[in-house]
Amino acid sequence: MEKTWWHNAVVYQIYPRSFYDSNNDGIGDLRGVISKLDYLKNLGINVIWLSPVYQSPMDDNGYDISGYQTIAREFGTMEDMERLFKEANERDIKIVMDLVVNHTSDEHPWFVSARESRDSPYRDYYIWRDATPEGNPPNGIDSIFGGNAWEWDEKTGQYYFHLFSKRQPDLNWENPKVHQEVFKMMNWWIEKGIGGFRLDVIDLIGKEVDKGITGNGERLHPLLQQMNRETFGSKNILTVGETWGATPEIAKLYSAPERNELSMVFQFEHITLTWEGGDKWQPIPLDLKEFKDVLTKWQVELQDKGWNSLFWNNHDLPRAVSKFGNDKEYRVESAKMLATTLHFLKGTPYIYQGEEIGMTNVAFEQLSDYRDIETRRFYDVKTATGVSHEHMMDAIHKNSRDNARTPMQWNSSEHAGFTGGTPWITVNPNFPQINVEAALSDSNSVFHHYKTLIELRKSHEAIVYGTFTPVWQDHQYVFAYVREYQGEQLFIVSNFSEQEQTLQVPTRYQGDQVECLISNYAAPSAIDATMTLAPYESFAVKLK
Ligand code: NOJ
Repeated sequence: MEKTWWHNAVVYQIYPRSFYDSNNDGIGDLRGVISKLDYLKNLGINVIWLSPVYQSPMDDNGYDISGYQTIAREFGTMEDMERLFKEANERDIKIVMDLVVNHTSDEHPWFVSARESRDSPYRDYYIWRDATPEGNPPNGIDSIFGGNAWEWDEKTGQYYFHLFSKRQPDLNWENPKVHQEVFKMMNWWIEKGIGGFRLDVIDLIGKEVDKGITGNGERLHPLLQQMNRETFGSKNILTVGETWGATPEIAKLYSAPERNELSMVFQFEHITLTWEGGDKWQPIPLDLKEFKDVLTKWQVELQDKGWNSLFWNNHDLPRAVSKFGNDKEYRVESAKMLATTLHFLKGTPYIYQGEEIGMTNVAFEQLSDYRDIETRRFYDVKTATGVSHEHMMDAIHKNSRDNARTPMQWNSSEHAGFTGGTPWITVNPNFPQINVEAALSDSNSVFHHYKTLIELRKSHEAIVYGTFTPVWQDHQYVFAYVREYQGEQLFIVSNFSEQEQTLQVPTRYQGDQVECLISNYAAPSAIDATMTLAPYESFAVKLK
């Protein structure tokens, strides 16, 4: 595999609205991001994925764009954006922009014109269909935010298609003019010196609505190859597609270098294991054996072809330590265990803001404290079909996107030091204990563990390029594997349970003297024939 810079990058995702508010309007902003670049440099990351900061009515917190080349007023100005590029660049940090081109906002000038009349030059930028003879929507495709994906437009007498909220009309990717507009806009950002794109729900752009196909349509890969050719293909930037429907086979189509599509994709198989029947509002416990099988499958299948992205959480998902660890008595231990497990895998790791200090889910008692459009819509949709309030609140506490969106906890002062005003969403009440200031001053904190992991990736090629071999594959609670590259052998062991686990170690991994690279309890100095792991114990050693 030809080596490239993003193979050993570590990406940090910023959700600007919740990161740091520099002007006390209660909403995080670009100047807030700039003022925290030294913090990120200290952590050691070298790429920031910035969730959308473009002009937007904020129906979906910026994933509804009304101006692709303008910055939303609450986030700052284009000057602020340029200063961010410059200041990040000075610290060797690249900025990956969020590219949301499956849909626009209903306030985007294209859509405003398109819904004016059937003759608008922008009409075909969107997807319009007549009602059925009975006066119904063209078909039963569901919106991902609940309800039918077709919205009736009174003025022009047709339905338009929206896979997300009705304020997020889908662009018509069958129209070559849409390609040209989007590619032009992408090139404009590339010219500004960005480090890459994260491509929002990109597996939906090959949709064929009349056939009922939304994800992974036949035109998807040709479209991405065209996009690659006409925009970033020659630029050596990082591109990561959000692809909920990807299997390893599909991920190879996107990320095999010779196909000239994307650097990598986010797959969600390990995430949706706790969603009964794919429904996040039906949470079920994690089966670790299944979870290990999924992670192992992705490691093995993309070993020589394609590239993995590695993540436990993002702005749409619950906090890693709450979902996969124990955010109560073993918060620190399990947050470190999860970090070690992920950062030694093959692929590019992504850290979501606050993960590096072990931030946890929140459990607001009142629905009115939730801000997320998806959470609020599904509460209505589900309770209307008879699901109880108690069930929905429990599901919301586990899986609402607002778990990730409460403000970043900087210190123990009011509103966690996020804002001097009133935050747009309430801060998690655990901020007096869990915050950046406390983490920085404690050499044993989750923060320092992440910092060490990032340093290790830079100094051990086996972490980046080593082969992956699972160990104790059938064990119910322990996830372990070996990475090997040019004679260097790393052995990574993680106990995912709050019970002690005792294991028999295969002879080839035993050793009187091992070099421990990182651990969350006492560092082991030898690997004996029998090993006992404490609750959530995890370590990585170099075998001699
Ligand atoms: C995926 C984004 O991550 C999510 O936040 C957003 O709501 C949808 N795409 C629609 O853009």
